[in-house]
Amino acid sequence: MSEKGPAAGAIDPMELRKALGAFVTGVTVVTTREADGTPRGFTANSFTSVSLDPPLVLVCIGKTALSCQVFCECESFAINILAEDQTETSSTFASKDPDKFSHAQWRVGTGGSPIIEETAAWLECARHEVLEAGDHVILLGRVTDLAHTNSNPLGFCRGSYVKFGLERDAVAAPGQQTRIGAILESEGRVLMLREGTEGAYVLPTAPRLGSPEERDSLLAKFRDLGLEAKITFLFAVYESDSGHEHRVYYRGDIVDGPVEDPAVRMFAFDEIPWDGITDSALRDMLMRYVSERSENRFGIYVGDNESGQIQTLSENYFGSTGWS
Ligand SMILES: Cc1cc2nc3c(=O)[nH]c(=O)nc-3n(C[C@H](O)[C@H](O)[C@H](O)COP(=O)(O)O)c2cc1C
Repeated sequence: MSEKGPAAGAIDPMELRKALGAFVTGVTVVTTREADGTPRGFTANSFTSVSLDPPLVLVCIGKTALSCQVFCECESFAINILAEDQTETSSTFASKDPDKFSHAQWRVGTGGSPIIEETAAWLECARHEVLEAGDHVILLGRVTDLAHTNSNPLGFCRGSYVKFGLERDAVAAPGQQTRIGAILESEGRVLMLREGTEGAYVLPTAPRLGSPEERDSLLAKFRDLGLEAKITFLFAVYESDSGHEHRVYYRGDIVDGPVEDPAVRMFAFDEIPWDGITDSALRDMLMRYVSERSENRFGIYVGDNESGQIQTLSENYFGSTGWS
């Protein structure tokens, strides 16, 4: 890994941007209304939680933003945390379009600020403090109302949007032998399939995620198993090495099903037949799943069948610190 750094004392703005861009953030749209009710909003990734008691959050707005003055003077504002399918909303609110709100579905929240629909979460805030900070202004808000959903949040890193959920494009790399699988859970039990009556236990897999209508897709396999399941997060990526295919596993929740079939089994975590899982990488992955499930804190494994790294996701950060 090569390391680049500025000479002592001089911070090159481009290098600063590049270094800061390595910090993965979510994407928010910060909104308020002018005295005459006109909605105003801008896209921001400088949002940060500050304090739980009192509940404080902050966001930084550039002094050159057209709405800077309005936000500095407003009594309340809302932080809309975008879901992964809201990249267009992000682009709209990052633009200078005078009528940004005509491109979004929104309503007025109890605190009077615009709440954008279908986000991953939103927080309404009363103005707590406005602080000067170089070419930006820090808006500190005290949370007065909030809501959150199960939608995957949109991420941002190195100038690009990042999605933590279904990375269909990433997994469908052309010309690569790929297998997509899922660890599906319902009421503390995990679904496994048996290859034949005496065979090994495996997870449902298919060459592609696809759709229920597509042959050879994982979603068609769910349909054949009588399963309605919601895939939630990426769990493991096994890069192809000699003799092995590229394998990607998601985790998800069973909403309905599966069909009654001796080849389809639901195992409580302490009943998983480890000896019946002959694929050692699969066994290791499931063991990690069981252990991470006990703390409800999941990581993503990226590596090959022998070794790799687990990147942790603080998915339930708010949960573990008592916010929800
Ligand atoms: C992903 C992303 C994150 C951004 N984060 C911020 C931010 O934290 N603070 C800020 O002032 N501008 C940020 N911007 C830029 C503003 O959204 C942009 O300047 C916008 O035009 C400001 O709107 P306005 O001029 O109508 O007030 C961001 C843009 C993008 C695409």
